[in-house]
Amino acid sequence: MSKHSAIELLEAAAEARKNAHSKYSKFSVGSALLTEDGSVFLGCNVENASYGLTICAERVALTSAVTAGHKSFQAIAIVADKLAAPCGACRQVLAEFCEDDFPVYVASAKDSASFETHLMGKLLPERFHFNP
Ligand code: THU
Repeated sequence: MSKHSAIELLEAAAEARKNAHSKYSKFSVGSALLTEDGSVFLGCNVENASYGLTICAERVALTSAVTAGHKSFQAIAIVADKLAAPCGACRQVLAEFCEDDFPVYVASAKDSASFETHLMGKLLPERFHFNP
């Protein structure tokens, strides 16, 4: 993906971050997931008074995309209060649908034009596969 498109995806994630329900941690996260056919699905973290029920921004975007019928993805962008790679749970959930060369763009909300790129294969080497 070109740098320009990565920045557009990060800008979408930054917009989604504004809707975060993060009253407990005060750490707002937004994500934007680009499907194979060019659609973008957004997510933000949705916290709960029962802390363990909190859903991360990445899983909100992914489950929303899958619900709409998408199972192939090009990239995900994540914008948080500071540079933050996806948590372990989100890595495994993303890996269900993404190959090792899948790019994960991360940026700080202070400057979404300055970003880092991680590859899924590095974020989650030796992922769990279930082969019935
Ligand atoms: N969070 C995400 O949304 N994505 C991640 O990958 C890491 C953490 C959220 C969960 C919680 O609402 C807040 O950030 C602090 O952990």
